[in-house]
Amino acid sequence: MDSARILISAALPYANGPIHLGHLAGAYLPSDMYARYQRLKGRDVLFVCGSDEHGVPITISADREGITPQQVVDRYHAQNHEAFRAFDMSFDTYSRTSLPLHHETARSFLVDFHERGILTEKTERHFYDEKAEMFLPDRYVEGTCPVCSSENARGDQCEQCGSYLNPSDLINPRSKISGGKPVFRETAHLYFPLGKYQKRLEEYIAERDKRDGWKENVLSYCRSWFQEGLQDRAVTRDLDWGVRIPLKGYEKKVLYVWFDAVLGYVSASKDWAQQQGKPHSWKHFWHDPSTKYVAFIGKDNVVFHCIVFPAMLMAWNDGHREQFVLPENVPANEFLNFEGQKFSKSRGWGIDVQDFLERFPADPLRYYLATALPEYRDSDFYWKDFQARNNNELLAILGNYVHRTLTFAHARCGGVVPPRSALNEHDRALLEEVRKAPVTAGRYFEEYRFRDGLLEIMNLARRANKYFNDSEPWKSIEADPERCMTTINLSLQLIRTLAILISPVCPSTSGRMMAMLNLEAPGGNAWDHAGELKLQEQHTLGTPTPIVSRIEDDVIEKEREPFAVKEAAEASPQPEDSHISIDDFKKIDLRVARVIACEKVEDAKKLLKLLVRLDGEERQVVAGIAESYDPTDLVGKSVVLVANLKPAKIRGLVSQGMILAAAADGGRLVLVMPESETDPGASVR
Ligand code: 2FM
Ligand code: ZN
Repeated sequence: MDSARILISAALPYANGPIHLGHLAGAYLPSDMYARYQRLKGRDVLFVCGSDEHGVPITISADREGITPQQVVDRYHAQNHEAFRAFDMSFDTYSRTSLPLHHETARSFLVDFHERGILTEKTERHFYDEKAEMFLPDRYVEGTCPVCSSENARGDQCEQCGSYLNPSDLINPRSKISGGKPVFRETAHLYFPLGKYQKRLEEYIAERDKRDGWKENVLSYCRSWFQEGLQDRAVTRDLDWGVRIPLKGYEKKVLYVWFDAVLGYVSASKDWAQQQGKPHSWKHFWHDPSTKYVAFIGKDNVVFHCIVFPAMLMAWNDGHREQFVLPENVPANEFLNFEGQKFSKSRGWGIDVQDFLERFPADPLRYYLATALPEYRDSDFYWKDFQARNNNELLAILGNYVHRTLTFAHARCGGVVPPRSALNEHDRALLEEVRKAPVTAGRYFEEYRFRDGLLEIMNLARRANKYFNDSEPWKSIEADPERCMTTINLSLQLIRTLAILISPVCPSTSGRMMAMLNLEAPGGNAWDHAGELKLQEQHTLGTPTPIVSRIEDDVIEKEREPFAVKEAAEASPQPEDSHISIDDFKKIDLRVARVIACEKVEDAKKLLKLLVRLDGEERQVVAGIAESYDPTDLVGKSVVLVANLKPAKIRGLVSQGMILAAAADGGRLVLVMPESETDPGASVR
């Protein structure tokens, strides 16, 4: 579908934790490249995202940290917004679902569906905590797993054996809130009749697939849902955090988070329109049938975006004159792993976006992730590959080409675009490829094949280097100056072409390339003119500066090492008899140590440096507890130290021992401390 107006949404991440690189490779980098590309095609683009601030994940984080859900979402909304900014996401707005505007929007859908008799009410039996006086969401019920007998299975899943469970499957269920035994109570909920829309949904997907080519992975998820047959879905929940429901009997309930989250795209667009001072401008995007709406997501969100959301919009459209556009396509990526394993917050496996971008600029990361997107199957982030893509491609191909051309133009052509005279066959062959590149790369971007699009662009950069080499301007400057000037003229034109084409992937590198050509940022429909020779003869060039920095081995080693160590430790075979003897245990010298000073380690989010006293001796210890403790919390406290551990260097600081801590929920660490006053140096047995 070729459309002048494009609405783009990227899945709203839950504001209950920091986003990591896997999120970027799933929905965010692809959507941003698409939005930037479409703007360069001169299309009217609205690109929306924001925080998903409701649902059980938020309340669980709040309970765990002993703060309110609002405090949780305020913290992570700000953090994630900042991380996206640092990654150069070009959202037109980054909204949030706790805004009253969103609550009103989501509520209006529910009330409309209710008034039009679309929803049905059903009464069910759910676990209720009598002490806490609340119904328990599945994840708030714990008990013994019926499959593996683990005592800590949750009402939705057993982490030990991976079985999916219902709360009523648990043996000896207990409430996560009060610890008490929950009882069954009846509760009424409103249901959306998804099954009634199945036929229309199947037709809708088939039609859009025919028009815009849906991804095979997305189609196959949808097919399997259809095969099972769509069931009615509850759209209300017994919770007190979420969008309130203005219906009698529903005062203590809220909307199911997914019912409100997908409508977050609509309210984010309204939010944007208000910020523009044109409160109705969102309607052009959502109500004009010529809009092409593309919803970027990760694969875990397929059912909500391809089935639930379109059905909700169909239900609305059936009763109103103003029609909402349905997604033309839902390009979902598979998952990105990290150094061969799944990202895991509790195991500390992976890296948050903010941490990454404190150490490296955004463009090398954008470039690498674009080459490794999980477009068809899961893919991996490897530190070594990140370094190699930066050094061997971004720097050695693109950076090198720009640098050698510009330094030559400054040294030998007076810092201006030299004149172009008769073209030879090599020039003409090059120009033919330059003309084709925007068309081919553009077609890939239109098809959501960003890896292929980028490959095409980098092939042009490779070709440009070859042209420069083969033309040998350093020789022709003596033998045939006119020829040399033509070579440099074309080589400079090609920097402009490459700057435009690479800008969806590496916007700030592109900006530097344009600045070195002394050109404005590309506007209008620059993409379609990227292959033309726009640089005028005698145009003054900017100063050449390197556009990409090399990433050295030691820098990458430092990043990679903690993961290599962790992997080795986890992979080391357990002896068959895992008991140790009392003598083994006695080898460990555990001592009480009093903390006398404590501070954060600069540039290391997780580390604290402590000065501790044993009897008559002081030691420096570096501990990975900065995310669980404030330095001021610890001074004067007694902790337990492994006193005979071989000293180690952590981030250049000597650490003489290790402090014991228990791993609590969510990766938080809790220090082991003597239960009453104990002298520093006392042995622990
Ligand atoms: O999976 C998630 O992180 C969800 N918060 C995505 C929601 S997308 C949309 F519906 F808002
Ligand atoms: Zn189990």
